[in-house]
Amino acid sequence: MSDLIAIIGGTGLCDWQGAEHISSEPIETPYGEASAPLRRMRYQGSEFVFLPRHGDGHKFPPHKINYRANIWGLKSLGISQVIAVNAVGGIHPDCGTGALVVPDQIIDYSYGREHTFYDGSDGRLDHVDLGEPYSMALRRRILAAGQSEGVALVDGGVYACTQGPRLETAAEIQRLKRDGADLVGMTAMPEAGLAREAGLDYASLCLVVNPAAGLSSEPITMDDIQKVIDSGMQTVKQVLATAVSA
Ligand code: HPA
Repeated sequence: MSDLIAIIGGTGLCDWQGAEHISSEPIETPYGEASAPLRRMRYQGSEFVFLPRHGDGHKFPPHKINYRANIWGLKSLGISQVIAVNAVGGIHPDCGTGALVVPDQIIDYSYGREHTFYDGSDGRLDHVDLGEPYSMALRRRILAAGQSEGVALVDGGVYACTQGPRLETAAEIQRLKRDGADLVGMTAMPEAGLAREAGLDYASLCLVVNPAAGLSSEPITMDDIQKVIDSGMQTVKQVLATAVSA
């Protein structure tokens, strides 16, 4: 699997419907089990490794995901490049519902998650540089895939990672906006930090599934979010199939 790009699917991409299943590898790590077996798949002629972040049937909420096992598992199979898919709320006007965004920065508001491989248990310690949390080369690859598929992608944006699973208050979103956030989600961290600690190239493709709290006169409902996911994830899959084959 080592020459393949791995895709970590998020909400709305727990199973990759329409993909041909090639093989499956259960993953046990020093940190416990990954969210699901790692699956080698083929979609529209492109091969990749797929890991549903929330597990099969979306059983792990964002704060209960074993991010360390997921990243360790990918690394242990020799994977060196990871594209994450994240469903997010939109804050910046360019990040309206249905928009696809390739973020370039993260602010971490999550807490209480196992967030590092350097937890002091084995005497190893490194302070990795996370100034640029996403790999520029992988970001360019996704952006080029969007261009060749005729799909508009927003190039850059600050992803605010909240704890969840509840959505935010309107005042919290105003605070995130003042902090410079363009998107809000619950899963970019500690995933991106762990990927850097493990030496993996990592980038994300975000689907905006709702206006963030207080930015629309309508309440946020799971029904409305599901409708955006149903159409948007098809486009996400198409862009990623091209990105992983490039
Ligand atoms: N907030 C946090 N996470 C999310 C949202 C949101 O509005 N939408 C999808 N994931």
